[in-house]
Amino acid sequence: MKKNIVILGTQWGDEGKGKIVDYLSRNSAYVVRYHGGHNAGHTLVANHKKIILHLIPSGVLHSNVIGIISNGVVISISDLVKEIQMLEKNNFFVNKRLFISNSASLILPFHIAIDIAREKKLGANAIGTTGRGIGPAYEDKIARRSIRVGDLKNEKTLSIKLEKIVDYYNDQLISIYKCKPFDYKIILKDLLNAKNIIDDMIQDTTMILNNAIKNKKIIIFEGAQGSLLDIDHGTYPYVTSSNSTIGGVITGTGVGPKNLDYILGVTKCYSTRVGNGPFLTELHNDIDAYLSDKGNEFGSTTGRKRRTGWLDGVALRHSVQLNSLSALCITKLDVLDNLEEINICVAYQNIKTLKIHTSVSFNELENMKPIYKKYPGWMKKTLGVRKIENLPSAAKNYIKSIEEIAGIPVDIISTGPDRNDTIIIKNLFL
Ligand code: IMP
Repeated sequence: MKKNIVILGTQWGDEGKGKIVDYLSRNSAYVVRYHGGHNAGHTLVANHKKIILHLIPSGVLHSNVIGIISNGVVISISDLVKEIQMLEKNNFFVNKRLFISNSASLILPFHIAIDIAREKKLGANAIGTTGRGIGPAYEDKIARRSIRVGDLKNEKTLSIKLEKIVDYYNDQLISIYKCKPFDYKIILKDLLNAKNIIDDMIQDTTMILNNAIKNKKIIIFEGAQGSLLDIDHGTYPYVTSSNSTIGGVITGTGVGPKNLDYILGVTKCYSTRVGNGPFLTELHNDIDAYLSDKGNEFGSTTGRKRRTGWLDGVALRHSVQLNSLSALCITKLDVLDNLEEINICVAYQNIKTLKIHTSVSFNELENMKPIYKKYPGWMKKTLGVRKIENLPSAAKNYIKSIEEIAGIPVDIISTGPDRNDTIIIKNLFL
């Protein structure tokens, strides 16, 4: 039996992790968001309702599950409060079962302003961030000037810290970006109001989680973004500002590596990317239009059209290695239902040296082009199929090829947005 499961994305995010976390967490006691912030967008369908979560872990839709937002996350308190209220409107109540780390850093309005202003100034060289202040908030964490969740408990020191940091940002906003300055007193008032709503949730989540481990509770760690957006191992500088690979679980929660029993890499059966940066298998043809439309590939946080392309096996192997993945979960299989032919990139070729590479440094993608292997499509409906034996044989072959390319098994397949449109090949809880 697997106790503690990490669920993370192997691509550039938007792999459909939220649904899988929601599905598996019905068997768990805790679900933990451990990095990133409200740049993430996890779309879930529960009781025929579509719910989009940005910050709160997806597992909280089960009333028996405790949600944790741990120290590795950067938290916009105002967005957190909005999300709690949205859940309440939809009859999901998280009172007394959502805890927020006292040592998580806050995202404040000036982080968002500076993120947007910088991107504007970068023009064509912009990263394509979500404009949620993620980069600036993590910069403050590393520079040791963050305001942390625990600071909300002491109004006097909060006020002193806030005045100092607002001055720091106002200097830049006025002189470099010609933007309006912030008044720290207004931010302070908003923070204190929000704090009244979340006061009881502020805890030492490292202690909560390690106690849960001692008590043999099942914990699910929910990744955000995807491995190729990792600040160290992704397509730098076109990355997010946190570790979306496995190391983020350890530093972002205070749970040691021996306590992670199974690491599931969620992989969409084609690729998408939002924002700028290298994307070797990107398509600019009618298949791009088909995937966007059938896969509804528009950002759940920003609404931007996602770039689409074929599954990249080289990138997938990179993610398997970076995360020491136990197995894969393949998502959105049904999106490929109407394609006569499907490609998977199995290697890269350097267009200058003509050398073929089956693994590469992700810092040296410049002269690489994808080499594809073609697979016949199945041209049959897989939407909602719940048993592997009911998949068309071409779809089964496609899954088998992904296993061979990745070198690890596919344990779960998702065949539609609903919780139950899921094929479990290996039951993780037996
Ligand atoms: P940031 O995380 O807002 O700083 O954006 C940095 C890069 O990560 C941009 O390319 C974003 O589009 C991308 N990104 C951030 N969060 C997500 C996500 O949840 N899904 C997909 N891409 C994301």
